[in-house]
Formats: sequence, C-alpha cells, structure tokens
Amino acid sequence: MIPVRLLVVLVFKVCLVRSQPTQSSQQVTSPPNPTGEQSPLDDGNLSFPWSRLRLPRYIVPLHYRLLLHPNLTTLSFTGTVQIQIDVQNNTNWVVLHSKGLQISKATILDHNLAHLSDQVLPVLHNPSHEQIGIFSPKVLSSGQKYFLYIEFEAALAEGFYGFYKSTYITSEGETRNLASTHFEPTSARMAFPCFDEPSFKANFSVRIRRSPEYISLSNMPVIKTTQLNRNLLEDQFAPSVTMSTYLVAFIVCDFKSVSATTSSGVKVSIYAAPEKWMQTHYALEVAVKMLDFYEEYFNIRYPLPKQDLIAIPDFQVGAMENWGLTTYRETSLLYDPLTSSISDELWVTMVIGHELAHQWFGNLVTMDWWNDIWLNEGFARYMEYISVEATYPELKVEEYLLHTCFVAVGHDSLNSSRPISSPAENPTQIKEMFDTVSYNKGACVLHMLRHFLTKEVFQSGIVRYLRKYSYGNAHNQDLWDSLSNTCSEDDFTSGKHCYSSDQASKNAYLFAGEHLNLTAMMNTWTLQKGIPLVTVTRKGPRLLLRQDRFLRTVLPSDPQWPAVQQG
Ligand SMILES: *[C@@H]1O[C@H](CO)[C@@H](O)[C@H](O)[C@H]1NC(C)=O
Ligand SMILES: *[C@@H]1O[C@H](CO)[C@@H](O)[C@H](O)[C@H]1NC(C)=O
Ligand SMILES: *[C@@H]1O[C@H](CO)[C@@H](O)[C@H](O)[C@H]1NC(C)=O
Ligand SMILES: *[C@@H]1O[C@H](CO)[C@@H](O)[C@H](O)[C@H]1NC(C)=O
Ligand SMILES: *[C@@H]1O[C@H](CO)[C@@H](O)[C@H](O)[C@H]1NC(C)=O
Ligand SMILES: *[C@@H]1O[C@H](CO)[C@@H](O)[C@H](O)[C@H]1NC(C)=O
Ligand SMILES: [Zn+2]
Repeated sequence: MIPVRLLVVLVFKVCLVRSQPTQSSQQVTSPPNPTGEQSPLDDGNLSFPWSRLRLPRYIVPLHYRLLLHPNLTTLSFTGTVQIQIDVQNNTNWVVLHSKGLQISKATILDHNLAHLSDQVLPVLHNPSHEQIGIFSPKVLSSGQKYFLYIEFEAALAEGFYGFYKSTYITSEGETRNLASTHFEPTSARMAFPCFDEPSFKANFSVRIRRSPEYISLSNMPVIKTTQLNRNLLEDQFAPSVTMSTYLVAFIVCDFKSVSATTSSGVKVSIYAAPEKWMQTHYALEVAVKMLDFYEEYFNIRYPLPKQDLIAIPDFQVGAMENWGLTTYRETSLLYDPLTSSISDELWVTMVIGHELAHQWFGNLVTMDWWNDIWLNEGFARYMEYISVEATYPELKVEEYLLHTCFVAVGHDSLNSSRPISSPAENPTQIKEMFDTVSYNKGACVLHMLRHFLTKEVFQSGIVRYLRKYSYGNAHNQDLWDSLSNTCSEDDFTSGKHCYSSDQASKNAYLFAGEHLNLTAMMNTWTLQKGIPLVTVTRKGPRLLLRQDRFLRTVLPSDPQWPAVQQG
C-alpha cells in the first residue's frame, strides 16, 4: 500500500473499540428460511467459543472457492464461499472473521463433500472481534480436512474498504457505478467470511457474476465465461497462488485497457475509465520496465501470468498491491503528456515501482503479523529508489531519498514516535502502523544497511530471504539471518547467491573489533524508537564522540539537553 501523496497525517474514522466480555457481545443468528432439505439445528444456549482477537491456530484454511454476485443497480452483493480447512485439534467449532455480512446458511462437509450434519449449523457472532463461530454437532477430528460452506450477502460498502461502490461521471454527465475492493489490512472480512490474518495463506478460486455490459477482474486471469441467462454471465478465474487474504481483489466495471507483454511473457494491462484511456500509456511503459527490472534484481520470476494496474475513481490510499491486480488513485497511475508535470511523472513512476516491489516484498514473502509491516512497506519504499534509479535514471530519484529520511528523522525526533516494530492487535492499531515510521524510517534503515553491507551483499541477502520464505511469512529475525554472513545455513545447493560478506565483516571489525552481529546491530534500529544524535568535540589531537537520543522538543536551554562531556 502507498499512502496518499503529500498527506503527512492520515486521518482514520474514529472507531470505538469496546473491550467488553464476549458473553455480553454475542448474539445468535438463526439461519432464515434455509433452503433444501436442511432444517436449522437448535442452537440451544451456545456461547461464543473464543475470546481472543486473533483466531485459533488449529484450523488452517487451504483453499477458498469464492462466488460473488454484485449488483450495480441494487448496490448489494450475494456470495458463497467454500473453504477447505485442515483441522489440527479436535473441535466442534470453526471460528473465522466476518464483518457486516449477513450469513444466511452455514454447513460443514467432510472430505468427500458429504454433509456432516443434515441440518443448517448455528452461526454465532462476536461483532466486537469481527468474528463468527460455526458450531458442528459432530466433532471435527484432528488430522482431517473438511469444507466449510457459507452463504452470505451485504450491501456494497460505502467508503473505501471491503467490497465497495465507486462512481465516475462521463463527459455526458452520466454517473456510472463500479464495484471494487480494498482489503489491507483487515477488510477482506467485509467481503467474504475468511481467516483474515496475514499468516493464514491459502489459494483462491474466484468466480464473479456480472451483466454483459461490464467486465470483471481479479488477481488471476479469466479462464472461462459461462452464460447463465440472457443478462447474466459468470467469469471463472484461474486458481491463485498461495497468498494472504488482504491481497485478494475483485472488480466489476466498464473500463477500457491497454496491454503489453514483458520480456518474460507476463501480460501487463492498464485499466481506466473509458474517457481516461488516453492517459494510460506512460503507466504501461513503466510497469513493463519495472517488472523486467524486478525479475532480474530479485532473480525470481513474477509467478502470475498477468499484472493489471487499474485507476479507481474513489480510492482512499495512494495505491494497493493486490497480487496481479494493483489498484491506484487516478492521480497515482494516469499521466497526460500534455498537462501532467514532471513531478506527476516522478510520482506515477515511484508508485508503480512501489506496488510492483510488493509483488515480491509483501505478496511472495509476507510479514508474519502487522507489527512488522515495515518488512513490506520499508522495503517497498526503498525499492522505489532502487528501481526508479535503474529504470529511469533521468528522473534522478536518488536526490529525493534524503528527503524521505529527513521526514523520518522529523517524526522520530518527537517522543511520541514508536519503534519500527511495535505491537498492534486490533484493527485500529493495525491501521496506525501504516505511518512514516514503517515506510520512511524502514526505508532509510535499509539504505544505511545496504551501504554498510555493500550493494552486492545486500542484494544477495534479500534474494536469499525472498527465496527461503516464498509463499510464507517472515519475522525481522529471518531478514537479519538472511542478510548475515551465514552461507552454511543456506539451503541453496548452487551457492551462486551466497556471497561472503567480506566488506561487511571488515566494516564490523573496524567498527566493533569483533564479528558482526547483525541482529544486535539492527535491533537497536527496529526495536527502539528515536534517532541517535552524535556530538563530536575536538580536544587537542583527540576527537570525543558522544551519542544521545535526538529530541526536537528539547532545546539547549533545557536541563535534558545533552551536555557535551569534556575529557
Ligand atoms: C437456555 O437456558 C435457560 C436458562 O439459563 C433455560 O431456561 C433454557 O431451557 C435453555 N434452553 C435450552 C434450549 O437449553
Ligand atoms: C491442540 O490442543 C493441545 C491440547 O489442548 C494444545 O496443547 C495445542 O496447543 C493445540 N494445538 C493448536 C494448534 O492449537
Ligand atoms: C440487478 O438487479 C436488477 C433489479 O433487481 C436486475 O434487473 C438485474 O438483472 C440485476 N443485475 C445483475 C447483474 O444481477
Ligand atoms: C495452491 O496452489 C499451489 C500452486 O500455487 C499448489 O501447489 C497447491 O497444491 C494449491 N493448494 C491447494 C490446497 O489447492
Ligand atoms: C516519552 O515517552 C515515554 C513513553 O513512550 C514516556 O514514558 C516518557 O515519560 C516520555 N518522555 C518525555 C520527556 O515526555
Ligand atoms: C546477536 O545478538 C542477539 C541480540 O542481542 C543475541 O540474542 C544473539 O545471541 C547474538 N548472537 C551471537 C552469535 O552472538
Ligand atoms: Zn506499500
């Protein structure tokens, strides 16, 4: 994700997070008029089985089969999801996320797709945790796989999160609707019931129903379109790679596109409202160049057959890196050679560089939890500079890097700052993590580290990190381990990407007189807030160095002002 241009303080809707006991917040929904032969199971006096904000770990989703039927006239959607789950402890309950969805039916099937119960199962809601619990009268056994099937409906969201309605106005003054998604960090649960945490990675097979005057897009390409009746088509998308829920995306609109192919055969398309089609060509050129650059830099193929970039008329943030379907504000993607400025050109180039970097940093390898969102955002911000410098050297992007760092220093020189890695549990805290500290300080710490380690060691270290944790999740420590001089731990057989960090070791010897402990060094940057202020004084032939925390609010007249020591 990239925040809005020039917007320093992001303002989010104030949400009251009630920390009330689950007992009082639960409510039992009886499935209304269940269809077929199944009658609702008596839900008796069941109480919500789970009290924590994070989901239990013993039910792991493997594959979602998702069908969505949005209606751009009624501005609502219906859907079904069948989730293949791996049960790792005996239980009668499946607890997952859902927010604002009306659940009309829930059943559980065994691995042969036979119903476990001949009745529709009770669904309990815990709205303060955005969770639902589905009760199976028959115990789900450890080591078995099941299918959870849920039917649901909701209005298309107002606002910019979940599955929401957007509009644009044609030059004839006609208002047209489209339906688009934005899930990061915790809004996939507004579009379909899911295990909405970044480490629950799964495959997604999406189908979308639409009327013939619209098109639909999702992470993967359409593999089949079925005519259901004269006014209704169903697009079936190829199954996705294994990924987190926040990266799922789907759009129904009447946009037009331009396409090109990268040197490795990835189809790149830019979508925009029909009348803005003329402004898509610059983005197409940038996206093709960037994908080529990243495939070479990371030495890992972009794993999807296509990458769509789409300009959404109503969009909260600057852009979002949904895998294979990145979404942008119009001003972050469209470029009109006649009226746009050089600074618009730089902005569009950097935003595309950022979102396409995420296809590796974030999508392929994802932070284990939102406390380490800097592993996504710090890297994507830093890769903006590396990729634009390599692909568009005439834009001289490196001249702006210092500004990025000064913004971080400015923020970090207030006591109200936070460490790069900070705890974040509820959705409000998680959204607050998308700030200058994760983006700019993260990028600048990486910049410093790259100079310390040398460009070659840095690059081979991040390639090692991306390969080792592909389709998985990582912590800070995993990055430090990959960047350290740990060839022996490397699981490569080739050794091709395993440089010995001679320069880094030399730096470390000069610096500390002992072997480099990268974790110890980097923890001081990621686990504590603030920027060091180093004061150098000269006394005769000697220089004295002293380090203090740099606080903008402390003035030389304050007693806290670091007194430069003599001696
Ligand atoms: C639910 O609990 C109440 C009192 O706690 C009891 O009167 C009622 O019979 C219970 N209902 C069922 C279905 O067990
Ligand atoms: C399964 O249950 C056991 C015993 O209650 C517990 O120790 C273990 O952590 C559970 N496993 C998971 C994945 O929750
Ligand atoms: C949307 O709803 C209207 C009114 O009910 C109906 O005529 C139209 O066919 C629906 N469109 C789709 C795509 O289902
Ligand atoms: C998910 O997709 C991967 C390929 O990307 C495949 O290897 C795996 O078997 C799929 N898993 C499921 C549960 O469909
Ligand atoms: C700085 O913030 C910490 C909490 O993060 C607080 O304990 C401390 O008192 C603050 N210091 C000043 C000088 O305000
Ligand atoms: C490196 O530093 C970390 C954090 O201070 C420490 O836990 C670890 O044991 C150190 N490793 C070595 C090899 O000294
Ligand atoms: Zn981002």
